[in-house]
Amino acid sequence: MEFETLINPPESVFEQIVYWTAKTEDWVVQLTDYKYWSTSFDKFWLFTVVEKGTTNLVASLSLARWDVPNDTPLYSIGLFYCLEKYRGQSIAKQLFQKAMDIVGDNNATLTGSVSMADKYASVFGFDKGPHFWHNLSSLKIEQLVLPEINNDQFVTKDWSEVDPELLNTYDLTICSRNRRKIQTDRFNFENSLTKVVFDLKTNQIVGYATIQKLVSKNALLAAPFYADNLEAAKVLLSDLLHQFPLLLSHKSISFMNPAVNQDTIRLLQTFAKTPEDVQSVRSFKSQFTKKFIQSPDEKVYSVTDSAHQFV
Ligand SMILES: CC(C)(COP(=O)(O)OP(=O)(O)OC[C@H]1O[C@@H](n2cnc3c(N)ncnc32)[C@H](O)[C@@H]1OP(=O)(O)O)[C@@H](O)C(=O)NCCC(=O)NCCS
Repeated sequence: MEFETLINPPESVFEQIVYWTAKTEDWVVQLTDYKYWSTSFDKFWLFTVVEKGTTNLVASLSLARWDVPNDTPLYSIGLFYCLEKYRGQSIAKQLFQKAMDIVGDNNATLTGSVSMADKYASVFGFDKGPHFWHNLSSLKIEQLVLPEINNDQFVTKDWSEVDPELLNTYDLTICSRNRRKIQTDRFNFENSLTKVVFDLKTNQIVGYATIQKLVSKNALLAAPFYADNLEAAKVLLSDLLHQFPLLLSHKSISFMNPAVNQDTIRLLQTFAKTPEDVQSVRSFKSQFTKKFIQSPDEKVYSVTDSAHQFV
């Protein structure tokens, strides 16, 4: 079999990535992600290997470049995947090298799976990052309860009712790189709901979160979910759940949390029939080549995106 590389291939190739990564890895890439990443980042490459002369997928990798004023670009790598029948032939590794040739001496980040994290560190220098893993923490909707959250200190608003400058200023306390466009494009996703929580004592924003419907799985994902404290997080999640259309028709709700933030588990347990209903499994590690960009883990209940974001 002969192969060829296609960069930014037609949508039909991306559809195969969505299909195969869901089937063999249980990933939740959405059909809309191709357009989102292509337009929200400053530059985006979808590298694919196909069977020569066809658009039949063999392997994939996505590379995004994110520029901010007065700083060097940050590259991120996602969707690193090879069809099972073509594994072990170095096809994927060569694709990775192509992406790293573009990255050059710039900083790059990725979220390494349990089986690949050490290899990325030793072979391609992704050896900087936090000491902890990120977990996937979930609750089945059949085990969900909606308790009365009596708290007069915190109130939520829909993101579109909030001054974008204030929201962006809050986001800079979570992610030191300005990502106004990247986040605003997410807030505009179909099948998603974004709310911002305020502390009435100070009149300040103390968190925000998006709940996204993963259409292919009929499940919900908190991506992102940030709050300055657990009480604000409870009000935020309660309001999001109460307002999410057809909440009970979904299968589950999941968070991608830094393992060190145990408040994520406490938050989910507040909405669970029993504490044991909350499941949490090791999922990925945030890794950088040149410089680890830190974030306030105690406020991060779920990161924005496990393909092209580190917080
Ligand atoms: C990860 C994956 C794309 C690698 O493809 P592959 O065909 O298995 O590996 P290759 O033949 O290209 O690479 C040869 C060797 O280099 C390793 N390798 C591949 N890409 C690498 C990289 N970017 N960094 C370090 N090592 C790498 C492979 O693991 C393999 O190691 P082994 O000989 O110990 O098994 C493939 O296994 C896969 O699709 N896995 C499931 C999805 C997944 O986990 N993706 C990674 C998410 S972070």
